[in-house]
Amino acid sequence: MNNTQLKNVTDIFKHHFDGVEPQVVCAPGRVNIIGEHTDYNGGHVLPCAINYQTLISFSARNDQEVHVVAADYDDEQDRFCIDDNIAHNEDKFWSNYVRGVVSVMAQHYPNLVGVNMVISGDVPQGAGLSSSAALEVGVAKVISEVSSLALSNQTLALISQQAENEFVGCQCGIMDQLISASGNAGHALLINCETLATAPISLPDNSAVLIVNSNVKRGLVDSEYNTRRKQCEVAAKHFGVALLCDIDIDTFEAGKQGLANVELKRARHVVYENHRTLDAADALSKGDIKALGDLMRASHASMKDDFEITTPEIDYLVGVLNEAIGDNGGARMTGGGFGGCVVAVLPSDQVASVCELIESRYFEKTGIKESIYLSKACQGVHIL
Ligand code: GLA
Repeated sequence: MNNTQLKNVTDIFKHHFDGVEPQVVCAPGRVNIIGEHTDYNGGHVLPCAINYQTLISFSARNDQEVHVVAADYDDEQDRFCIDDNIAHNEDKFWSNYVRGVVSVMAQHYPNLVGVNMVISGDVPQGAGLSSSAALEVGVAKVISEVSSLALSNQTLALISQQAENEFVGCQCGIMDQLISASGNAGHALLINCETLATAPISLPDNSAVLIVNSNVKRGLVDSEYNTRRKQCEVAAKHFGVALLCDIDIDTFEAGKQGLANVELKRARHVVYENHRTLDAADALSKGDIKALGDLMRASHASMKDDFEITTPEIDYLVGVLNEAIGDNGGARMTGGGFGGCVVAVLPSDQVASVCELIESRYFEKTGIKESIYLSKACQGVHIL
């Protein structure tokens, strides 16, 4: 977040709401270093919150209405009353994240206080960097604040996930909302998605986390995502467990006979990815970037061949990055898949040359111009 963004979101608030000086909440997007599609299977993930964020300027109202302005959508506005039957907004899709969170909170907490809000953000949208989770967690924090609920970060994340599952309609896991709520500056967060236990893992000083957006428009994301979830549930049933990550590699290998080929591949990705994630956290905490890189490459191959969620453009980007980085780190697709971004961990002093290489090769190969973000691991949701 930069000072211009902060000034904008404050000035726009004053403009729309009678010159009142607002408070501002900041909620970050995320990049996942490893552990893909493991969260809803009760496994581990290793994301970090990034320095691309949603800012929400706000102040309490003395009624039970929510008035909200979307600064990034030409100051489009929405207004609704807080009750336990908040409807969808059929015209302004962005507002359903706000309505969803308020609706879930109204079910859990009576007498919420009304609020005026202005929302603005620089998390790239539709890129797999969790712009929606950042918005949801930011709104949950605002409502918690004006209603003096003092909710924990974990509770903010669970409310946001419930809003996404039940109001928006994507059956996502807990990773995006939990890292947006609980990120630690300078650290990735190892999350056990079954118990929600978290452990910060420090990122080595001389390494960088680079994000390259393929700018491939993600298609069919929600339907493919929900299909993958169902296939994992079928596989879990085969093994007689509630969640796939309740089995380890040996149990998988011993019991995989009889699974249909597609479910077998999905399960193999999830079970091995869960183990890779724990190994990656271990490698990272020892500063063993080569081991981390090998695990990232294995993760990508598994997403490509077994979970089948990559695209040719993403595979190409990952190939170029891994070739350039060699044993000094690694790269893989990050997020739900079918386009979006690639994440690389590499020595800081290699960043410039790697970016140059991507710039010279990606467009030539695909006809699409990438976007590159050098990310810092940041704190989760907070009041500025
Ligand atoms: C999306 C979902 C997350 C997670 C990832 C895949 O980002 O929102 O819950 O499942 O995909 O790891």
